[in-house]
Amino acid sequence: MCHQGLIEILLDAKKIVALTGAGISAESGIPTFRGSGGLWEGYPVEKVATVEGFERDPELVWRFYDEMRINIARAEPNEAHMVLAKMENHYDLWVITQNIDGLHTRAGSRNVIELHGNIWRTKCTECGRVDYNYDVPLREIPPKCGKCGGLLRPDVVWFGEPVYDADKAYKLSEECDVMFVIGTSAQVYPAAYLPRVAWSHGAKIVEINLEKTPVSRYADFVIRKPATVAMREIYQGLLGAFQGE
Ligand code: APR
Repeated sequence: MCHQGLIEILLDAKKIVALTGAGISAESGIPTFRGSGGLWEGYPVEKVATVEGFERDPELVWRFYDEMRINIARAEPNEAHMVLAKMENHYDLWVITQNIDGLHTRAGSRNVIELHGNIWRTKCTECGRVDYNYDVPLREIPPKCGKCGGLLRPDVVWFGEPVYDADKAYKLSEECDVMFVIGTSAQVYPAAYLPRVAWSHGAKIVEINLEKTPVSRYADFVIRKPATVAMREIYQGLLGAFQGE
């Protein structure tokens, strides 16, 4: 069976964290950020993913996010998202994601930390009210607050802003027995610290990525396969082992 050593470790594990990035949603048809064909190639980060960019041109920023919302609305969670959701039935498993697409929750995961926010939420720049907005496409660009009429922004974390639930993410990373690091280039902090934190507290690190990343150097297992393939194989291996127990 493949990944035999990993399956043995998973059989002993109690608490698992899966740190995910854009690569886990790539096979759902959502482009990643970096690399050729990545989202940041067509849009300068400083224009669409900073507070300064938003203040300069909220319309441009909202057009970018509206396009992303249209794309995400068409996408379905893939097998990698689904396997993580199913693994919650066997483990104390938490997904810590950098993705804003909400696909983990749509796949059925309940323990999800969305470090970088959620593209379906808006936040008023005047009164701070947070709302969900599922209009695709948006009815007005830029959208305005239903309560005070102020300018709304996407409730996502831009460069230079603090991430959501950082304390909880660090604590889970310290406590887990195994951390999966799936489809992230591990270049953006603080998310990129989390595998280091887990590793230094004794967790086994399992990287699933098509390419080498800074995590590859110290990961205990490196799986160079698409996330759906890797997660399918791991789940099949686990089911076989559970049945054989
Ligand atoms: N399976 C596994 N890994 C994949 C797949 C796949 N099918 N497709 C791509 N990858 C890998 C790439 O090799 C790359 O390492 O996914 C990674 C995607 O990296 P990024 O585009 O940098 O995405 P991410 O790490 O999530 O970016 C972090 O940066 O731009 C900000 O806020 C944005 O949340 C984002 C953060």
